[in-house]
Amino acid sequence: DRYVGIIGMGTYVPEKIVTNKDLESIVETSDEWIVSRTGIKERRIVTSDLATSDLASRAAQKALEDAGVAPAEIDLIIVATATPDMFFPSTACLVQANIKATNAAAFDLVAGCSGFVYGLVTGTQFIKAGLYKKVLVIGAETLSKILDWTDRNTCVLFGDGAGAAVLAETETGYGILGAQLGADGSGGDLLKLPAGGSRKPTTEETVSQRMHFVHMNGNEVFKFAVKVMGEAAMKALENAGLSASDVDCLIPHQANIRIIQSAAKRLKLPMDKVMVNVDKYGNTSAASIPIALEEAVHGGKVKRGDNIVLVGFGAGLTWASVVIKW
Ligand code: ACO
Repeated sequence: DRYVGIIGMGTYVPEKIVTNKDLESIVETSDEWIVSRTGIKERRIVTSDLATSDLASRAAQKALEDAGVAPAEIDLIIVATATPDMFFPSTACLVQANIKATNAAAFDLVAGCSGFVYGLVTGTQFIKAGLYKKVLVIGAETLSKILDWTDRNTCVLFGDGAGAAVLAETETGYGILGAQLGADGSGGDLLKLPAGGSRKPTTEETVSQRMHFVHMNGNEVFKFAVKVMGEAAMKALENAGLSASDVDCLIPHQANIRIIQSAAKRLKLPMDKVMVNVDKYGNTSAASIPIALEEAVHGGKVKRGDNIVLVGFGAGLTWASVVIKW
């Protein structure tokens, strides 16, 4: 049996920091409200000339360097994103050209904020099956481009960024030990970009009705997230033959500190075993877990041999968790 794990990581976030104070001049909100309800203090926002593939390519290059892998060695690129540069070509194809991964197949994967973990599980199967040796999985978003900057219910929550991981066969006993992916499409209306697709093609009406922006029922998404984060992590641990007491570090999707705390509580984990950086980046959707994981790994919070759990939830609705022996 082949074991598959992450052999290198890289991230890229835009330089421009937007603080809660800055947002006070855009919508009727306050630093106090945002911090107490979400834990977010600031986020990174791209300048208008940058798109998702630019962030993804920069993160990918760093991941390749970190792994000591040449672009031509990559067999497959998976980009998890809800904010592609355009419908087609896929963002993964744009990245493939940018980083000159000339031997790689490439496709995008849409699973909202769960996308990076969905991508890890997908990429792992190609290596386990013996079809590919090295797979690049990227979570990248420029949510700022589809936010309604007049809607305080959503615009304060999100940020831009990208995180990338190189997957390859690892030593026996290391790497991805268990996973759980899930979806409940009946909850799709709770978080969506209503127009621009085949259901509601772009018209003057869709534009004037602000249907090309993120629409979210925050309360319902919150309830769903609290329920599913702990459950998904528990099921992934079960599949790995482990229990919550074996977890050295939890890397949850960084949407809201209160959701993270409730997941930690469900697993009976003290917060010092939980990676949190939502205060610095806000919710970067599919990029949030790889950005948090990279910071945990390169910051020394995750060490060789640790059992770590990645868990996310998002639009779809979707959820995803993997257990990795690092
Ligand atoms: N500043 C000030 N007041 C605000 C703001 C703001 N930015 N946003 C909302 N409010 C107001 C609301 O209008 C409401 O006022 P009202 O009672 O007069 O109507 C009040 O604050 C309370 O709103 P609630 O919705 O009850 O606030 P809550 O504590 O539930 O927090 C939040 C809202 C932060 C959105 C929370 O529900 C949440 O985090 N939900 C999950 C969202 C999420 O994670 N989405 C991403 C999913 S992942 C993906 O795929 C992208």
